[in-house]
Amino acid sequence: MIQDYLRRIDERDYTVGIIGLGYVGLPLMWTFHKKDMPVLGFDIDTHKVKCVNEGKSYIKHLGDEMMSALAKSDICEATTDFSRIPEADALLLCVPTPLDQHREPDMSYVVNTTEAISKYLRKGHLVVLESTTYPGTTEDVMIPILEKTSGLKAGVDFFVAYSPEREDPGNVNFNTERIPKVVGGSGEDALTLAKAMYDVAIVQTVPVSDCKTAEAVKLTENIFRSVNIALVNELKMVFAAMDIDVHEVLDAAATKPFGFMKFSPGPGLGGHCIPIDPFYLTWKAREFGVHTKFIELAGEVNTAMPDYVVNKTVAGLNKFKKSVNGSRILLAGLAYKPDVDDMRESPTFILMELLEKMGATVEFFDPHISFIHPTREHEKYNGKKSVEWSKEVIQSFDAVIVVTDHKAVNYDDLYDWSGLIIDSRNVYKGRNGKVLKA
Ligand SMILES: NC(=O)c1ccc[n+]([C@@H]2O[C@H](COP(=O)([O-])OP(=O)(O)OC[C@H]3O[C@@H](n4cnc5c(N)ncnc54)[C@H](O)[C@@H]3O)[C@@H](O)[C@H]2O)c1
Repeated sequence: MIQDYLRRIDERDYTVGIIGLGYVGLPLMWTFHKKDMPVLGFDIDTHKVKCVNEGKSYIKHLGDEMMSALAKSDICEATTDFSRIPEADALLLCVPTPLDQHREPDMSYVVNTTEAISKYLRKGHLVVLESTTYPGTTEDVMIPILEKTSGLKAGVDFFVAYSPEREDPGNVNFNTERIPKVVGGSGEDALTLAKAMYDVAIVQTVPVSDCKTAEAVKLTENIFRSVNIALVNELKMVFAAMDIDVHEVLDAAATKPFGFMKFSPGPGLGGHCIPIDPFYLTWKAREFGVHTKFIELAGEVNTAMPDYVVNKTVAGLNKFKKSVNGSRILLAGLAYKPDVDDMRESPTFILMELLEKMGATVEFFDPHISFIHPTREHEKYNGKKSVEWSKEVIQSFDAVIVVTDHKAVNYDDLYDWSGLIIDSRNVYKGRNGKVLKA
């Protein structure tokens, strides 16, 4: 049966359905569209669907041109109507995989989406999970739901694969198209079909033995980052106590042409991936009686970083005979990383809470985020606005903490206008005086 689908993929007569049009799904839509593959996007968020169809941007770094091209295209459309699932030949799930309040995997988005598509599953469908998750999700969670509701059999009537998303929002060197894609299939036909589909749009596909191996690849990549970031964060604190600049050390160490990879210390982890994904493995490992000591230690070190920044702020204010209590503190940067508008899990929120608890008045400035969109975790900040960027406003703060190093911020002006700067991103390399490294 798959020969017919392979031919249709080749002839671009194969519709790719993308479910979840967020930071991952939207660029994926664009990537297939650029290769003339028909794309049908699904989301439960009516605002996003409307934006795609009307060419309005809702993820700043992706740009307006892409959105207007998608809106004008006659091979691309977005919808909230899941009864149109049968129109798509492949269904790529790009839905959130957060942690719940007990810091355990919240599989509700994957389960709800799988249930929604299972009602409309038809023979020949290829279902690919792209969301980051623990090994076993695709085969042990999704396939039983799909088979039960549809009465169809995976590997015979329809095909299932897992292909982790490695999208790095805001990275100008590597967009979705240029990042090799790992694919694991539940059976050979599923792998062949999924690989053929991704080969149309992505520079290279990397087949692995099965879905659980592909699931493990993604977690390994993010655990590698989390552990190495924790290591440089620890080194930062050790070297600071010895009056050694960790950034100078890391830059010099990075000149070694082999056996060293540079990671940068910071004010704490942020984003939808690195603070969360490692704990998907920790949770699953418990079922096998195995402890993930490295992951938990890295989590501990990284989670303590906002406290370190607060301690530096206390020390900085102290020099001016001021206390945090009663001070006005500006957090420069709300996005969790430079040049994007994504504030999920940003350490800025933690800093805001810690400093407010100590009696400070805390504001933020971010050139990419004019106000705080509603979040479940930090409800009290919903709607809070970025302060105006002016000498008068910046001068009204007792201390500024650089949390995110956006290119769009004029750090020379910030330096001139501030009395005390706590720099957690090394934007003031080599400058001392009013700058305190954190
Ligand atoms: N953001 C990244 O940089 C990144 C990178 C690699 C992997 N990932 C992983 O990719 C997955 C998606 O992440 P994201 O950042 O794109 O999330 P996102 O929140 O930006 O987008 C998810 C989208 O799914 C939609 N959605 C939720 N439930 C749905 C349902 N039942 N049916 C249809 N749509 C639904 C939401 O409305 C939203 O638009 C996660 O597992 C994440 O860990 C993210």
